[in-house]
Amino acid sequence: MSESKGKIAVLTSGGDAPGMNAAIRAVVRTGITRGYEVYGVRHGYNGILKREMKLMQYEDVSEKLQHGGTFLFTARSAEFYEIEGKKKAAAICKELGIESLIVIGGDGSFSGAKVLSTFGVNIIGIPGTIDLDIAYTDYTIGFDTAVNTAMEAIDRLRETSNSHERCSVVEVMGRSAGYIALWCGIANGAEEILLPEKYNNNIDQLVARIKRNREKGMTHQVIVNAEGVGHSEELAERIEKETGIETRATILGHLQRGGSPTARDRVYASMMGAYAIDLIDRGSKNRLIGYKDGKLYDVDVEEAFKMTKGIDEYEYEIARLLGSRD
Ligand code: F6P
Repeated sequence: MSESKGKIAVLTSGGDAPGMNAAIRAVVRTGITRGYEVYGVRHGYNGILKREMKLMQYEDVSEKLQHGGTFLFTARSAEFYEIEGKKKAAAICKELGIESLIVIGGDGSFSGAKVLSTFGVNIIGIPGTIDLDIAYTDYTIGFDTAVNTAMEAIDRLRETSNSHERCSVVEVMGRSAGYIALWCGIANGAEEILLPEKYNNNIDQLVARIKRNREKGMTHQVIVNAEGVGHSEELAERIEKETGIETRATILGHLQRGGSPTARDRVYASMMGAYAIDLIDRGSKNRLIGYKDGKLYDVDVEEAFKMTKGIDEYEYEIARLLGSRD
């Protein structure tokens, strides 16, 4: 057997996202093929601190691609959150000869990785979060699946809402970002879309619009409310009280995080996993992988954290125009 080119570890961190397994599979298989030893770390950063790592073989990632979740498990590590935890993790990587760590996760996981890189571990980030709230990239693993899951649920909700001529407030995930809500808003033809980036908290205005739209012939209304706005139960009660229209609140919750990944999530996650290995193979250090202008790219971790992004104004305007007669 030819000599190994070095040791690489891979972990998933933060909230799980459908497609993470596809990314791990690609990391393992591309890594082995390019001549590396690839270690799977269980339970996120906790797994480094507790040395829960396993040398992965090609067949260890069979039958994983089509499943949601992450077979490496994930966690939000309190110990790693502290600077001492990060120093300890870097020391363990050094002791075990792990030169590069591939982190599949969201913003929080990447900010931990950024600090870890200052202690000498080469970190490569793959964006994995249903929230799409990472500034340097237009795509994150799991968003597509989560939006499709939420969209199907909201289609169902609309049928019953329509039959009863009700108003439905449906809350979708996204933490403090409104991307899932905006996409569902357009995909489900929502009559109202409440995004943390846009909503002015003016319930009187919202109620007035609901009333005007009823007067103009709407028989029912679906209000997609982002988690970052929240208070869906309260909002439903208030709408019912002030409009006299029967109103129900539904919080979709964690069901949005599960399920078999869409083709898009499987393909992009696989490509990003392979790309991570090829970055390491080219000698790149401390890069985050993203998707922009129709292709994969990578950016320095420090630069990535200086970037910002927001809700697309045109998408938001059209979403509102299409859903309201106001
Ligand atoms: O970041 C993904 C996400 O699902 C958010 O949309 C949500 O706010 C959060 O994680 C929920 O976290 P937990 O699974 O810890 O309740």
